[in-house]
Amino acid sequence: MSKSIRLEGITKYRGGEPVLQKLNLEIRSGEFFVLLGPSGCGKTTLLRILAGLESADAGKLFLGEADITHVPIHKRKIHTVFQQYALFPHMSVAENVAYSLRVRGAVDSEIEDRVAHALRTVRLGAFGKKAVTQLSGGQQQRVALARALVCEPEVLLLDEPLAALDRELKEQMLMELVDLQQKLRTTFVYVTHDQFEALTVADTMGIMNRHGKLEQLGSAEDIYEFPHSRFVADFVGRTNIFDGKVKVTRDAYHIEVEDLGTFVLNVTPEMSWLVGGMQLFLSIRPEKVDISLQKMEGFSNHLNGRVTSMIYYGRSTEYKVLLANGQSIMVFEQNEHHFPKKSIELGDEVHLYFQKENTVLLRY
Ligand SMILES: Nc1ncnc2c1ncn2[C@@H]1O[C@H](COP(=O)(O)OP(=O)(O)O)[C@@H](O)[C@H]1O
Ligand SMILES: [Mg+2]
Repeated sequence: MSKSIRLEGITKYRGGEPVLQKLNLEIRSGEFFVLLGPSGCGKTTLLRILAGLESADAGKLFLGEADITHVPIHKRKIHTVFQQYALFPHMSVAENVAYSLRVRGAVDSEIEDRVAHALRTVRLGAFGKKAVTQLSGGQQQRVALARALVCEPEVLLLDEPLAALDRELKEQMLMELVDLQQKLRTTFVYVTHDQFEALTVADTMGIMNRHGKLEQLGSAEDIYEFPHSRFVADFVGRTNIFDGKVKVTRDAYHIEVEDLGTFVLNVTPEMSWLVGGMQLFLSIRPEKVDISLQKMEGFSNHLNGRVTSMIYYGRSTEYKVLLANGQSIMVFEQNEHHFPKKSIELGDEVHLYFQKENTVLLRY
């Protein structure tokens, strides 16, 4: 059975330094939750506390309604797939998967059935008798997954499980994990520093900053389209950030960027905090900027600049354009046009356009 997880004020110090500070978080039962943050921000520490491998210095931990803060590891139905697969090299695939059931004193006939079932679940049904050392990296990771699943966890923790795989295999495994989670409906808590992985699999994402603070929670789309802070806007996807001051006129809000110009803002009713004179950051994603050699109509905001770099990626092109204030702006253009097209070249003076609806205002 799948369970929810609740953290209340979880705090952890290492060598006198706080790694996690009064962390509050609720993970719903049956969801694929991803905690995304840079290396060293405290993700593994958090998972180790959830698993019961370490205890928190303060705070409470709930599994469903039960307070498990002081429940030892072997009495929690929470299992982990580690970054290093930590398989026993001298044992067969099936023995590796059976190990924790044996430790728990399960009988042989039951072990055999459950191991076979777990191996089928990760599509290694025919591999039970093989030595783990004969398997590829992706297959070994599946054995590690089967070993956790065989215990029928109420929550499955995954600590950067695909970090060692190459990109193609990683993409395939991500899809398999999504399918598996949808089939099992077990709560998955997956931690990674890789935004691509996070955006691919998450029902809900939590973004952790360098100091173990949760900056934002939401769906992949929420986080990408409506980041709450500079850190989130920068860390998830790529973006352009302008530093400016709010100007209010009778019929519109603007942001004035020194030596560059004034841009119209999209102000929604929930932004009642916005007042003239405020110093803010404006974030605009590279794919939301249109680049053109000719002037165009119908956009709320316009800039000029000179192309200083272009990278052709096949399906898209990435430009860097130097602006009047000395700042460069990134622009991604989908190569969806049909040839022949008058193409932009290095050194060209270009027009850049973006809609006010595609900008995001950030307070810090
Ligand atoms: N065993 C340890 N002893 C001391 N400091 C540690 C230990 N493990 C991790 N840390 C420190 O705790 C912080 C968080 O580490 P960790 O949870 O492993 O981060 P992440 O998994 O996000 O990369 C880091 O600053 C790291 O250097
Ligand atoms: Mg880690």
